[in-house]
Amino acid sequence: MRRILIINGPNLNLLGKREPSTYGSVSFEDYLDTLRRRYPDIQTDYFQSNIEGVLIDKIQQAGFEVDGIVLNAGAYTHTSIALQDAIRAIPAPVIEVHISNVHARETYRHTSLIAAACRGVICGFGLDSYRLAVEALLSYV
Ligand code: DQA
Repeated sequence: MRRILIINGPNLNLLGKREPSTYGSVSFEDYLDTLRRRYPDIQTDYFQSNIEGVLIDKIQQAGFEVDGIVLNAGAYTHTSIALQDAIRAIPAPVIEVHISNVHARETYRHTSLIAAACRGVICGFGLDSYRLAVEALLSYV
């Protein structure tokens, strides 16, 4: 069975409650149930942390075990060379995702320090961005 890991970074534990006009009103746990039901033949693991180093530890560990990673690094997307280096260090392909269209928002969200290390980037489709990333991994991995 193919194994995919979804990693959410800072503040994404508050999905459903946090700025619902930007990020929607569905919790990630509820969305994950729907996603798992849609892809019963894939093992979809999930991990969230608000801490940069913990995200790096997870990428380093899982990156040698799973078939692909879907990563929403939250605001660390725009700041973290260390996350970029972690993505480069692992064999598993990583798809960068964002719920919102970061390019239609503040200019500081237009730059991703991790995109160059990722297999591809999906943003702006709400929570459906995660499903599109899973589709991408299934097609290209
Ligand atoms: C986000 C976009 C980031 O700019 C922001 O810091 C987030 C969420 C998104 O999914 O749209 O925390 O990654």
